[in-house]
Amino acid sequence: MYTLGIETSCDETAASVVCGPQKVLSNVVSSSLSLHAQYGGIIPEIASRAHLEAICSVVDTALKAAKISHKKLGLIAVTQGPGLVGSLLVGISFARSLALAWKLPLVGVNHVRAHMYASFIENKITFPFVGLVVSGGHTSLYRVSSLDREEVICSTRDDAAGEAFDKTAKILGLGYPGGPVIERLAKSGNPAAYPFRCSCGLGLDFSFSGIKTAVLYKAGGLKKIYGRLSKQVIADMCASFQDTVVRDLVVKSMRAVKKSRAMTLVVGGGVAFNGYLRDRLAQAGAENGIRILIAPKSYCLDNAAMVASLGTRLFSADKRKKYLRLDPLGG
Ligand code: KG4
Ligand code: ZN
Repeated sequence: MYTLGIETSCDETAASVVCGPQKVLSNVVSSSLSLHAQYGGIIPEIASRAHLEAICSVVDTALKAAKISHKKLGLIAVTQGPGLVGSLLVGISFARSLALAWKLPLVGVNHVRAHMYASFIENKITFPFVGLVVSGGHTSLYRVSSLDREEVICSTRDDAAGEAFDKTAKILGLGYPGGPVIERLAKSGNPAAYPFRCSCGLGLDFSFSGIKTAVLYKAGGLKKIYGRLSKQVIADMCASFQDTVVRDLVVKSMRAVKKSRAMTLVVGGGVAFNGYLRDRLAQAGAENGIRILIAPKSYCLDNAAMVASLGTRLFSADKRKKYLRLDPLGG
């Protein structure tokens, strides 16, 4: 069965066609990021207008790239939340209209779960597993025992990890989004230069607001002394910040897997794009005998392939119509 996936939860307008949950035929993403960069974060109103302008051509391009006519589709899957309300509304309304016009069933997909299952686009699913979702809006660990059974092990008490990357980059004058630039600059920095730490100690919950404040005070103090931050100081701060956040994510993930006796850790979300995190997780997995599945980089940042893939799985498993199907006419 061919599924068209649509994702518009934040600043990416994305569409994808998959054949079954594991064969991605197209994966098209149009981002309005450049329109937000000057504000240092996503402006919801600008994002929803950009979705409106892009969605027709993005869906059209996804169908053309997959080389199939809409007549061959068997399902439409759309991100139904969480996300920016105005942005979600564009994708959901568009998907509803298509489902009505093309007489197709429509499945609503949870964005966080789509990130979590992105690793299974290229790997066979085995339950149970522990899922780590690390993105700009979420940092949580889940114990997943089946497609419709998961429990939250822990979450962040304040900022998400990606949010901490973004805010730290802003403090250091590095622009938005913070993740990619911090990862790049950290390569020439010393991770032991500044002894930052993430609070919440021995528990499993995450907390990333303290480290951002620590960077703020450290940078402010150094600026007072030297007038500005040198390139090397910025690189050292990036490396120390990244190392501290990554260590916290890795240690808590390992603890959660051991506690839940699942022995597989599945990782997804924008921060999972980070090479330093990917390497540290792989290393910790090897040391602890834990199987690590990290989403391929092409499915880490917001995309519609993960939505189409999970939507297909939910629809196929939905023998008793248990999963939410969005009614094309509303409701
Ligand atoms: O999953 P995503 O595209 O959107 C949300 O659902 O939030 O994640 C975006 C987040 C941003 O905070 C961004 O800074 C972060 O992912 N990110 C990274 C990297 N690339 C993107 N964080 C660390 N290292 C990266 N290379
Ligand atoms: Zn996301």
